[in-house]
Amino acid sequence: MEYLDAENALLREGLRATRIGLCIVDANDRVVQTAGDFAERLGSSDRDMLGSSLRLHLPNTLLLPGLAGLLGMDGGEVGAEGHLRGQNGAADKVLLFQARTATVAGARFRIITMVDLDNFGATRDRMGDLQDTLQAIAASVVLVDAQAPDLPIAYVNRRFEQLTGYTARECIGRNCRFLQGPDTDPAAVEAIRRAIGLRQATQVVLRNYRKNGDAFDNELFLSPIFDAEGRLRWILGVARERRERALSSQAAA
Ligand SMILES: Cc1cc2nc3c(=O)[nH]c(=O)nc-3n(C[C@H](O)[C@H](O)[C@H](O)COP(=O)(O)O)c2cc1C
Repeated sequence: MEYLDAENALLREGLRATRIGLCIVDANDRVVQTAGDFAERLGSSDRDMLGSSLRLHLPNTLLLPGLAGLLGMDGGEVGAEGHLRGQNGAADKVLLFQARTATVAGARFRIITMVDLDNFGATRDRMGDLQDTLQAIAASVVLVDAQAPDLPIAYVNRRFEQLTGYTARECIGRNCRFLQGPDTDPAAVEAIRRAIGLRQATQVVLRNYRKNGDAFDNELFLSPIFDAEGRLRWILGVARERRERALSSQAAA
């Protein structure tokens, strides 16, 4: 249960940060879950969409040529691009939909994500920004429980396991400092401690060690997640290995 909470919080925060809308429908086209700003973008709300047919919530100002394939359970993995016109016909948003089918406990679901291309610039020229953003979701992610003593890890994703060499089972319950070692800069650690104390987001680079002992420089981004009552509930960490990028750009300069 705790684990599911963590996954849910992570999903929501990730979606909010990346401005992606998500909708899950069952085999009868009924909406079982929405997240991010999927509902809002279609002029509806999460509560109104839940349990009803997704088709009913796609406004008739939405021009989505690939709609049938997108909604069909046999459609497999498809993408479709649609325009959403404002009531007065003026505003014209470009939305990118992507769908795939998943089977959970024998039941089939359709997972539909939506990206508002206006957020990345309306034109195709800004497609690179979109890809960067989508890449970011595939980052190493760790979520720690801010209400438990010494901030234990509640969740890590597969990329985090790959980055550090530790399995989720080995990480959960421990404070992230186990990744530090002899060459970790105490000033970076102090910066993290300060940001956590102030409940602020922060970004640091610090030397970490994989399970096999190899050192790497971790570009770490931390962001607090508050619950509905404004209490600090989780802290989200996105870790990335710093590669020679910095060096090569220095060399190029
Ligand atoms: C969400 C989150 C993720 C963190 N990830 C890392 C990490 O990947 N590597 C690391 O060295 N420290 C990481 N830390 C920092 C340590 O957990 C700890 O906060 C830091 O060492 C400062 O506290 P200390 O002085 O008590 O050790 C993370 C902290 C948080 C809250």
